[in-house]
Amino acid sequence: MIVLGLQGSPRGNGNTNFLLSAFLKEIEKFGAETRTIEVAKLKISPCIGCGICESTGFCFFNDAMSKEFYPMLREADIIIAATPIFFYNATAQLKIFIDRSQALWSRKYRLNLTDPGFKTRRGFLLALGATKGENLFEGISLTAKYFFDAIAAHYSGNLTYRRIENKGDMEKHPTVLDDIKKEADRLLSFFTGRKKILFACTENACRSQMAAAFARYIAGDKIDAVSGGSKPVANLNPIMVKVMQEKGLDMEYLSPKSIDVSIKKVSPDIIIIMGCKQNCPNIFGAKKYEWDIPDPAGKSINYMRSIRDMIKTRVLKLVNEL
Ligand SMILES: Cc1cc2nc3c(=O)[nH]c(=O)nc-3n(C[C@H](O)[C@H](O)[C@H](O)COP(=O)(O)O)c2cc1C
Repeated sequence: MIVLGLQGSPRGNGNTNFLLSAFLKEIEKFGAETRTIEVAKLKISPCIGCGICESTGFCFFNDAMSKEFYPMLREADIIIAATPIFFYNATAQLKIFIDRSQALWSRKYRLNLTDPGFKTRRGFLLALGATKGENLFEGISLTAKYFFDAIAAHYSGNLTYRRIENKGDMEKHPTVLDDIKKEADRLLSFFTGRKKILFACTENACRSQMAAAFARYIAGDKIDAVSGGSKPVANLNPIMVKVMQEKGLDMEYLSPKSIDVSIKKVSPDIIIIMGCKQNCPNIFGAKKYEWDIPDPAGKSINYMRSIRDMIKTRVLKLVNEL
């Protein structure tokens, strides 16, 4: 499981940083991999409202947001947005990051594409401010709700703290560590009890990617699906991406992974191999099945469509049998 924290305060070692770090540390106890983006240090352009993403699904700016952070948002199972309140909302730096998720909003609401991870991905808000007003978190709560919706994450709660002003205030809060423990437990409970399945092929550019995407899309609440290749290539097969889009599934910003990397993310109960044969792993305790599905790489788009449909049928059968 991958948990991505967005640290929105420009004060690198301030209250927000303490709160997010403590939250991620708690989550790591459950074996999750955590990553943090120090949003205030980024040099990303603010959205200019050009509307290009609304017709193409891609941002006009080909900067780190497009190249690194969309893929990270797509890969994460949980996204935690952490911010101090600046004028009743997120910091300007975090707001730039949020606005730039407009390209993912467009893919969802203009191009009608669904992220295969939508069933399980969760969003969580951490926010704090100096004052004690009742409405202190109204602005950020709405912003977070629509941000998480744009990036295909269910808004699953928040921890908010008033009267936190000077460096060190958060750390001294009497209940913060207990609050974190309770909320981290609750958040992770959404992910427990699922069957862990690794789909493996050679390049991780077509077959195993489609199988994992269908498994997550159809039954992400019951199956934790990953994919990997014995010899992963650099990019997904663009024809595969296109034929999945024809079924409304958004594979953009995913990338091929090695089997080893995927096993690190999910230690599988079941391995389904498609073509990698002797190069696919034997994992103690994991059941291994072979699906006889031909390699569509280098073939026509119609052939790719037939392989897509074949894989979808196999995944549906697998889900029914579990
Ligand atoms: C530009 C700016 C605007 C702020 N606006 C608010 C505000 O509207 N309400 C509030 O309660 N605190 C406000 N604060 C205070 C911060 O939220 C508070 O100091 C917080 O603890 C800083 O967190 P950090 O240490 O993670 O940076 C503001 C601070 C700054 C610098």
